[in-house]
Amino acid sequence: MSIGPVILVVGARPNFMKIAPIHAELARRGVSQLLLHTGQHYDEAMSKIFFEELGMPRPDVYLGVGSGTHAEQTGRVMIDFEKVCFEHKPAYIVVVGDVNSTLACALVAAKLGIPVAHVEAGLRSRDWAMPEEVNRVLTDRIADHLLTPSRDGDANLLAEGISPEKITFVGNIMIDTLLTHLEDARASGVHERVGVERGKYAVLTLHRPSNVDDRPTFERILGALERVGQRIPLVFPVHPRTRNRAEEFGLLERLESIPNIVLCPPLGYLEFQGLTSGAALVMTDSGGLQEETTALGIACITLRENTERPITVTEGTNVIVGSDPERIVAEVNRVLDGEKDGEHRIPECWDGQTASRIADVIEGALGRGD
Ligand code: UD1
Repeated sequence: MSIGPVILVVGARPNFMKIAPIHAELARRGVSQLLLHTGQHYDEAMSKIFFEELGMPRPDVYLGVGSGTHAEQTGRVMIDFEKVCFEHKPAYIVVVGDVNSTLACALVAAKLGIPVAHVEAGLRSRDWAMPEEVNRVLTDRIADHLLTPSRDGDANLLAEGISPEKITFVGNIMIDTLLTHLEDARASGVHERVGVERGKYAVLTLHRPSNVDDRPTFERILGALERVGQRIPLVFPVHPRTRNRAEEFGLLERLESIPNIVLCPPLGYLEFQGLTSGAALVMTDSGGLQEETTALGIACITLRENTERPITVTEGTNVIVGSDPERIVAEVNRVLDGEKDGEHRIPECWDGQTASRIADVIEGALGRGD
């Protein structure tokens, strides 16, 4: 077996908070590793600030692939990542989540016969229109070690015929990062900076292609936000995709005119979690935020038709409403009127110890276990 390093792959914003605790734990255990950034996200606010705030070193390798179509982005990562594998001869590769960089690197590893672990395996929205669903299913099919955040992930993988010895339930890695940084997040001063009072505002994030690349859907959501803004101030850090589409569709002015809306550029990790943890409610189409709100006990209204994270609904604080304005407004009113049943619990192994369970799997695979 190769004695090269373990390569940890990051590419896009939701990867950074998943890799940071794994990197720290492997460093603590003295495992030789190489941090590789594909450059799928490259803006300071979408990338660099996370390295600084999460205490990750600068990437050892930066591929700089940038934006493009799915094929361009995935293809560029594959071509460049393969060269890195030839050069560094990694013993093991770790990919996280469901972005294009995840699938691209897993595919290269599988073809080169390098063992690969997928962290956050087994999640399924069953919505093939989502690029992430394609990335998830294919990555799980070719990875050697499937590390799941919740038991439904194990069940999904088994139902797809994946052999049980490949699957390890490890818990939710994002919660390690959340718990580590929560105190600093709460002290970030974000409320003063954006001008809202703790507990008296809603946080909004919106960037799914199904919501913002389709003009009628985007407009329907804006209609709902106009009504929500009359009840509670809305803080909206705007993803670059969303800003681009709003400009393209001529909707920027309408967005800016929503009553009581505070628009800002994408926030760093600490400010964003500071904002989330002090919110009356969160409205989002993000995947990770559904989990973070469940861990924090903050009401989450998900502007999607489905979720790959059902445990946030069955055990957590999440409710799925889609893009229908009536449903969105009704659910916001229910939360603000205190009509939501407060029953929720923190899912199993969302306990801040997931990096250690992942490192055990990696060390076992490297023959360093026991
Ligand atoms: C990607 C992920 C999505 C994840 C999201 C989080 C895929 C298929 N999608 O979507 O799962 O939820 O990241 O943010 O991998 N852009 C910038 N600056 C950047 C990066 C992107 O301006 O640093 C703009 C570009 O115009 C780009 C667009 O955003 O074309 C979309 O970026 P891309 O990486 O293709 O997808 P996301 O929508 O960010």
